Amino acid sequence: MSQNNLVTAVNVNNNRKYISDAVNGNKDQLQWCLDELDKMNLNKQKNSISRGDVAFLIAVCLKEKPKSIMEIGTWVGRSAYSMALASDANIYTCDSGNNMFVDIEGYSDRIHLHPNTHSTRFLKTAEYHRQIHRNTLPKFDMVFVDGYHDDAEDIFDACEDSFTLIAHDYFDVNTLEPCKGQSIILKLAEYAIAHKHKYSIYPTSRNWIPKGYPVYDFGGVNACCGMIKVSKING
Ligand SMILES: C[S@@+](CC[C@H](N)C(=O)[O-])C[C@H]1O[C@@H](n2cnc3c(N)ncnc32)[C@H](O)[C@@H]1O
Repeated sequence: MSQNNLVTAVNVNNNRKYISDAVNGNKDQLQWCLDELDKMNLNKQKNSISRGDVAFLIAVCLKEKPKSIMEIGTWVGRSAYSMALASDANIYTCDSGNNMFVDIEGYSDRIHLHPNTHSTRFLKTAEYHRQIHRNTLPKFDMVFVDGYHDDAEDIFDACEDSFTLIAHDYFDVNTLEPCKGQSIILKLAEYAIAHKHKYSIYPTSRNWIPKGYPVYDFGGVNACCGMIKVSKING
């Protein structure tokens, strides 16, 4: 299937229903995580994800209960701390830019900054150094991509048989044109089709930018994060 056909085949109602279920099934915990994140003073700044996107990441973590999360694009750590608050997962995060990570006490055993800072090396070497220890990376059941990475095979190789990938910038927030988040999700779908794996895409709507999808009695959730759930059924 071509990327154009894939785009027209995806249905934003998938994501509307997913968001409503995830938010309404976890409202108190979701609100608690948002309040705790506010206390960390990592409030939205240039390059960090918006409150609506934070709420979506948290809601997905509360629903999926991931064990190992890979993140591409750490920046100050706003998304990494959101996922740490909303799950018991170990989070392995990398960033090819300057280290801007804000260290907050109590999380260093669960948020691991990867020394192979570029995602390609991170995914291919599958090694993680921490002080004098040298460990193999786990297989991931959740991935958050908030940087440039377009190799679907790398991601499939690094992940469990079933995994959930969220990609920021499904649409460009300024031009509303399809953006890098949509591109990696469509690449994963193409890879899944070629290998006869099962997948389901949860796109966003341009109308959700900037405030998010309005969930009744809660507010805006998910401004520009697309999601794909994958299952390697023949592997
Ligand atoms: C938008 S910022 C991330 C914001 C962060 N998720 C937050 O909420 O605070 C994107 C980051 O991704 C990094 N980046 C872009 N492409 C990358 C790649 N292929 N591998 C690793 N880091 C990458 C950039 O250096 C930048 O710091």
